Amino acid sequence: EELWKNATVCFKTGTRTRFKIRDYLIPVRVSGLSVSYLDVTGHNGGLQGSNSSGHQKKDKEPSMASNIYEMIKSIKKPPRSVAEEIVQHVESSDQVEKIEIAGPGFINIFLSRHYAIGCLKDILLSGVKLPSLEKRLRVVVDFSSPNVAKEMHVGHLRSTIIGESLSRLLEFLGHDVVRVNHIGDWGTQFGMLIAHLQDKFPNYLKESPPINDLQEFYRESKSRFDKDEDFKKRAYQCVVKLQNFEPDHTKAWKMICNESRKEFNKLYERLDITLTEKGESYYQTRMVELVKTYADEEELAYIPNFIETDENGRKVMYGHPNDPIPLILVKSDGGYTYDTSDMATIKYRVEEEKADWIIYVTDAGQAMHFEILQNCAKKIGILDDTKVRVDHVGFGVVLGEDKKKFKTRSGETIRLADLLDEGLRRSLVKLKEKERDKVLTPEELQAAQEAVAYGCIKYADLMHNRGNDYVFSFDKMLDDKGNTAVYLLYAYTRIRSIARTARVTPQQVQEAAATVPISLDHDKEWKLAKVLIRLPEVITRVTKSLCLHQLCELTYDIATAFAEFYDNCYCLEKDSAGDIVKVNMGRILLVEATACVLRKCFDILGLKPVSRM
Ligand code: ARG
Repeated sequence: EELWKNATVCFKTGTRTRFKIRDYLIPVRVSGLSVSYLDVTGHNGGLQGSNSSGHQKKDKEPSMASNIYEMIKSIKKPPRSVAEEIVQHVESSDQVEKIEIAGPGFINIFLSRHYAIGCLKDILLSGVKLPSLEKRLRVVVDFSSPNVAKEMHVGHLRSTIIGESLSRLLEFLGHDVVRVNHIGDWGTQFGMLIAHLQDKFPNYLKESPPINDLQEFYRESKSRFDKDEDFKKRAYQCVVKLQNFEPDHTKAWKMICNESRKEFNKLYERLDITLTEKGESYYQTRMVELVKTYADEEELAYIPNFIETDENGRKVMYGHPNDPIPLILVKSDGGYTYDTSDMATIKYRVEEEKADWIIYVTDAGQAMHFEILQNCAKKIGILDDTKVRVDHVGFGVVLGEDKKKFKTRSGETIRLADLLDEGLRRSLVKLKEKERDKVLTPEELQAAQEAVAYGCIKYADLMHNRGNDYVFSFDKMLDDKGNTAVYLLYAYTRIRSIARTARVTPQQVQEAAATVPISLDHDKEWKLAKVLIRLPEVITRVTKSLCLHQLCELTYDIATAFAEFYDNCYCLEKDSAGDIVKVNMGRILLVEATACVLRKCFDILGLKPVSRM
């Protein structure tokens, strides 16, 4: 990343980096991983260098690429001589061992082993470090956000898992992260819930009602709402009273929310999720304010106005002429919508919470909503997208093994608590199959069971490109041979056990890191080292794409590179009696550096390593 910022030639750490010169356009192939363009002027540094605000301008790259194309075209030289000229201009760097030109004009850049060794020692001596921040940003991550009284479904589970990991990543980078649970705790459904509560538990103001199945309660009130006109009318009155903060209705509402909250929190605790609740209800007065400011009939005459009343009597606004549907700020009955609340929320986050970056983690189905919201917020001057970065982190649907929407056999939505229980049950079966119950203490067994169950569910979600739908399969995610959390957790415990077997203490590792050389002469040592030092680069990429599968790929690559290394390179030598006669300290250092990097990946992905499993 340093080179990307200020070197003439840009490269990333891979085996070889090819600047392929073809048709005078120079696509830079970086270890076959990402494609960028080489800046041959040397003035701008790497085209992929991060820009100062951390802000993405999607249309930037193609135009730079075409500039380069124009420029190169004007050189009118055969590719090989362009390559030669480029190579002559490359400044020497401690990261580069040598540069070679091959074939019709490939430029191969070889990473320096000496440099890699330095990186590994740094990891051992001062911990895993990430790219330093140009500016510490205040980032609001809006995730999980289930709806009160309605079921929390697998979509919310995805949002919870992805949001948690993104928050961890951004915190780890040093940003000031505000984790918000924007729960759906406001809106018309509360009218019928409160009316039903009043009928079913008339004594609710004095005695806390025993609602133990809130979803059932929701279904009952919904069916009354749909069938009974009088009930419907009362429900509407209840909404109005609630929105005017009438005390008894507020109390009823609080009771209902509390029931939901209890359920949500159990789940967050199990999955180790940290979240602060600030639900839709928080914005009620701000919605009133917003509508007054931007959609008040009397004001209309005096200020430039973007809000119009449509043929249905709704107050709507178009953020962009191409937006297929408008943002609905006020319904024909005067009520507010999801749009109104999100508009008030974005205003609050920018103006009061002073966010530099807002991230919404929801299903991809809401992409249009957030697009329109941003357009409208920009139009009325709430959002300046040169100052505030806004991302909708959308994700696909969770499918069952039959490739249909994930449901129970009887076609109902799967309760998340049941899903986690099932994961626990299956992970225990797996551990027992391997007879781990005979080796581990009951506490260790339980820790392993939970780490495997919850780790698998999280990792299976994160390892898929979030934009795609993915098939939820316990069999797959609990397979200890594939790219799964179980495999990674086993790999980690094995790595951790090596120094222990060699009786090398952490203290000795520290001392050795300062004095003992690490050799990367063996192919497998070199391969492992190269994958280990890629973490900062991958993190930078994930920070832009907000796609955590890229980090999962690296994590898996580390685990497999380690397995190859360990199969081929002895760290310890034992005699015929099985006693250790020699410890290769340099390799132990490589092992320990692997543990450090893997641990960091686990921390971001939310995997809990166990010491024994
Ligand atoms: N409650 C919404 C849902 O269940 C998600 C809310 C996401 N956040 C937001 N600011 N709209 O789909």
